Amino acid sequence: MTLQYTDHELTMHGHKLTDIAREYGTPLFVYDETMIRKQCHRFQQALKASGLNYTISYASKAFSSVQLFNLMAEEHMGLDVVSEGELYTALQSNVAPDRIHFHGNNKTDSEILYAIESGVEYFVIDSLDEIARIDRLATRQVKAVLRINPGVEAHTHEFIQTGQEDSKFGLSIKKGLALEGVRRIEAADHIDFMGVHFHIGSQIFESTGTVETVKLVIQWLNENNIHIQVLNIGGGFSIKYTDDDVSYPIEEGIKTITDAIKSACQTHDYPVPELSLEPGRSIVGEAGITLYEVGTIKEIKDTNYYVSIDGGMSDHIRTALYDAKYEVRLVNREEPHDKMMTIAGKLCESGDIIRRDIELPASIQRGDLLAVLSTGAYHYSMSSNYNQMLKPAVVFVTEEQVRPVIKRQTLAQLIQNDII
Ligand code: LLP
Repeated sequence: MTLQYTDHELTMHGHKLTDIAREYGTPLFVYDETMIRKQCHRFQQALKASGLNYTISYASKAFSSVQLFNLMAEEHMGLDVVSEGELYTALQSNVAPDRIHFHGNNKTDSEILYAIESGVEYFVIDSLDEIARIDRLATRQVKAVLRINPGVEAHTHEFIQTGQEDSKFGLSIKKGLALEGVRRIEAADHIDFMGVHFHIGSQIFESTGTVETVKLVIQWLNENNIHIQVLNIGGGFSIKYTDDDVSYPIEEGIKTITDAIKSACQTHDYPVPELSLEPGRSIVGEAGITLYEVGTIKEIKDTNYYVSIDGGMSDHIRTALYDAKYEVRLVNREEPHDKMMTIAGKLCESGDIIRRDIELPASIQRGDLLAVLSTGAYHYSMSSNYNQMLKPAVVFVTEEQVRPVIKRQTLAQLIQNDII
């Protein structure tokens, strides 16, 4: 990240964040566009080095915007979408429909029809009933991969684990449902079986779980004589929120995973499939920060020191939801971090906290600007209008320019669907 103090003020690619905040207002999401592109390149280079055929789809749930999707098109990335809304947004961008994969554990009939009409590359089928529904609704051949549940527990927050046995996602290998799914897709009139998909969880910082899963899946495919073109291993690669975290070592990790695929295929004399990845957080997470303006400061003697900012859980839900932790920087001055405080949001809920117990400069006062780091993934996309808060604006920054990609919501938009 090209975030640094220049002349005692925080800058991104040399642009002063105070100037950006003055122009676009706060709260504001600011992305390092160069870093997003670099993350795409890192995955591509690592996969290229493996010699495997591959595709990469950015998991659009991490942050959906037309401009971001246009950037993905420029970087030769496909997209993974999970709803009519994500597909609609994707179709407004330059990403070719045949680079879009349609996910979801409860696709509606209208979503299925919309995806077929739009010409998405394939469906990621998530249940047995979906097979019959797609087959019935399709008037021409469509492609699908089957999401299987390998029963492997990723070591991450339980709410973002997805591959454990009782997950709502996929069809269990161990319970025989995955095999049943493959056979039903193979027997379907209008569905071409392309392969299998798994995603064992999110914010996973090492490759052991994926390697274990890859071995188990290839053995299972071979034992059951299932032929696939595509092995989609989902996303889930970690990012650094604080010093307690590690960013997934992309080059090393992808090498470990692709070596495991090659060796498992060799062991079973099984043809090496094309590999597909769906990274979301690792593409945009560390590239994004949120800028807030400091308002009320409240000292509760011997108990807490609350610094409240002009946003909160409406644009930053992950602390309340997952007890996530973030680094915070004072933007407009560079000073030693010498006072313990809690950064709180302005919404009507005690759990509306951005960061509890963090050391920041004691001089922080009303009107100062704070930057919360690593908020590029699952912040804007999980934002809400709770307390009728407005969704913030989003800007992309490179060395050359600062460009708006999403405008701040307006008060009129808040009630545009109200019947008045
Ligand atoms: N593919 C599939 C099938 C997924 O379910 C997910 C995330 C991804 C790819 C992308 O995972 P990533 O690379 O971004 O970790 N709201 C939570 C994260 C939920 C992720 C759900 N699925 C959070 O804020 O941490």
